[in-house]
Amino acid sequence: MQILDGKLVSAAVKAQLADKVTELKALDKKVPHLAAILVGNNPASETYVASKVKSCAEIGFHSTLLRFDEKISEKHLLDNITLLNENADIDGILVQLPLPKHINEELVINAIDPSKDVDGFHPMNVGKMVIGLPTYIPATPYGIMLMLEHYNIPTKGKHAVVIGRSNIVGTPMSVLLSRNANPGNCTVTLTHSQTANLKELCLQADIIVAAIGRPNFVTADMVKEGAVVIDVGINRIEDASKKSGFRLVGDVDFNAVAPKTSFITPVPGGVGLMTIAALLKNTYNAASQKVNMN
Ligand SMILES: NC(=O)c1ccc[n+]([C@@H]2O[C@H](COP(=O)([O-])OP(=O)(O)OC[C@H]3O[C@@H](n4cnc5c(N)ncnc54)[C@H](OP(=O)(O)O)[C@@H]3O)[C@@H](O)[C@H]2O)c1
Repeated sequence: MQILDGKLVSAAVKAQLADKVTELKALDKKVPHLAAILVGNNPASETYVASKVKSCAEIGFHSTLLRFDEKISEKHLLDNITLLNENADIDGILVQLPLPKHINEELVINAIDPSKDVDGFHPMNVGKMVIGLPTYIPATPYGIMLMLEHYNIPTKGKHAVVIGRSNIVGTPMSVLLSRNANPGNCTVTLTHSQTANLKELCLQADIIVAAIGRPNFVTADMVKEGAVVIDVGINRIEDASKKSGFRLVGDVDFNAVAPKTSFITPVPGGVGLMTIAALLKNTYNAASQKVNMN
């Protein structure tokens, strides 16, 4: 069993981007600038946005964090997105989800200029991804693809089972793995809460991507020997021994599953770090007005 080390791979991606920033600065050119919008005080969202802003600083990108009270009106939020769309200095815009219930997430995502939509959630970019046109790929599936590529994990002809069909993880993951590309060329089974025989399907999987949001959901009896297991889940569970009162676990019962696998991602230290690296790559591409294919 080998750990797929998100710390190592994301550091490699970030080092490449930092070199590019150095080149831009030497040529007196503008460095990429990411704008992040955070509404309210959701602790998990606060952590994610803080990591994104910190990562920008580490590699020399500019970033602007716009914080709004959770009672912000939908119109005020949309007006601020319009300002960012019109601001030539801003290359990428991300709105940290989830938003408060009174705000229509779809409207907000649709309001972002697709050329600045570095999260890849705008329907235009999703459509381009599905038909294989160059576009911004949603950061979490993109980060997973970068990780598979880094470790040269064979995917051609493999059976991949993706658990979870959200627009931000499971569905785009199933599209990317099924593409005629490397990584890709998998036969993909996309599963969800209504899937009748999940355990049987998982037992046939060469690659499992778990994106469910339930701690330790994937157990050892669901995984065949030698499978590659990618754990997207980030779940907070109570832990009195921690200062914070909680610890993070994935959707996979890591200790029991890991010995059966050929490769597995840890939580934390796996997909989460790759998500940030992929977001930074999308932002660099937005700044250089190039979009990436995979
Ligand atoms: N590492 C990262 O950077 C990163 C990024 C994004 C998300 N995450 C984490 O990944 C997890 C999933 O996120 P998400 O946004 O995709 O979640 P989501 O929108 O809540 O989607 C969860 C999916 O899991 C499916 N599901 C729920 N119970 C199931 C069951 N018993 N059997 C099979 N499928 C089941 C749901 O099926 P239905 O569609 O039928 O309801 C749904 O498609 C969360 O823990 C989240 O925190 C991590």
